[in-house]
Amino acid sequence: EKGGYDHFMLKEIAEQPRAVADTLLGRIGSDGLLTLDEMRLSDQELRDVSKIIVVACGTSYHAGLIAKYAIEHWARVPCEVELASEFRYRDPILNRDTLVIVISQSGETMDTLMAVRHAREQRSRVLAICNVNGSTIPRESDAVLYTHAGPEIAVASTKAFLTQLVACYLVALYIAQVRGVKFGDEITQILDRLAGMPAKVEEVLATMEPVRALARSLAGERCVLFLGRHVGFPVALEGALKLKELAYMHAEGFAAGELKHGPIALIDRGLPVVVVVPSPSGQRVIHDKIVSNIQEIRARGARTIVIAEEGDTAVEPYADTLIRVPAVETLLQPLVAAVPLQVFACELATAKGHDVDQPRNLAKSVTVE
Ligand code: F6R
Repeated sequence: EKGGYDHFMLKEIAEQPRAVADTLLGRIGSDGLLTLDEMRLSDQELRDVSKIIVVACGTSYHAGLIAKYAIEHWARVPCEVELASEFRYRDPILNRDTLVIVISQSGETMDTLMAVRHAREQRSRVLAICNVNGSTIPRESDAVLYTHAGPEIAVASTKAFLTQLVACYLVALYIAQVRGVKFGDEITQILDRLAGMPAKVEEVLATMEPVRALARSLAGERCVLFLGRHVGFPVALEGALKLKELAYMHAEGFAAGELKHGPIALIDRGLPVVVVVPSPSGQRVIHDKIVSNIQEIRARGARTIVIAEEGDTAVEPYADTLIRVPAVETLLQPLVAAVPLQVFACELATAKGHDVDQPRNLAKSVTVE
């Protein structure tokens, strides 16, 4: 059932190109526009939305953080993202014009379910992004957009995460389309790029041997830091979470711009720091800033592991290890940048002799608060 792989996690990592393709399947019409009628939210309802709040836990929350960049950039609707365990207990401002998007792979996470109930009691519309058909969260929501990752067995989420990102991109573009924020040809162009992502993820998977070797060489480390900016920031958080849960190592993700506000004090001789670098063409200003960050931490002794787009030569002098990912649309970079971090955590945990499918103390679906 592991299809020749040693672990479900490895199989699920490898399935990501297909999972991404399946989540796109049937959702782009022959006119090059999105058809998401299955969501059961009318165009009028989507036009009336004045605020979006994305609510989720763990890896799904990281997908939500990335969704915010896409929703605000493409659909121009104000968007907040919140951990489900915080959301319900702080008396959030919700009304009929608020669309709450909950993201849950399992559809059974108790904190997220409680957030659904709370939002609906306040008369907000709730859209669930979920991977398990007929699970509790989509049943209790007003609307649902299923991810088509297929069953995810390994406790650590990988392919479900990538498909959650795809679903978030689709929702953001659909809202942009319905509200007329973007012209049809702009939407079609982004959808074309999205349709090209399975092949890009496949390219990344084909070049993972150096990442595995790097992971094995770091099995004796106690701590790894992850830095990113823009959509690379949630990717850094996700890379750190994967390493915590699988390798039981102290791992922390930071926004690179925050370095000098505290975290740079952690930089010590030999400390491995993974940096997710935004595209130099799409995000010139923050790209240059992050290159300075890499120089700064390297000057203080950090061992820099740099994830950068192909052709980005500016990072080369400062990268102790350089991991290349294909150049893609800025907002879509997490679909390729998250993959090496999954492989890294999985391989490092395996090198330490841990069970990557069943990490200690964790359960696949957290049905208690
Ligand atoms: C991490 C992981 C967890 C889940 C979280 C939410 O790899 O799998 O952090 O993302 O427990 O679960 P769902 O998405 O099922 O609500």
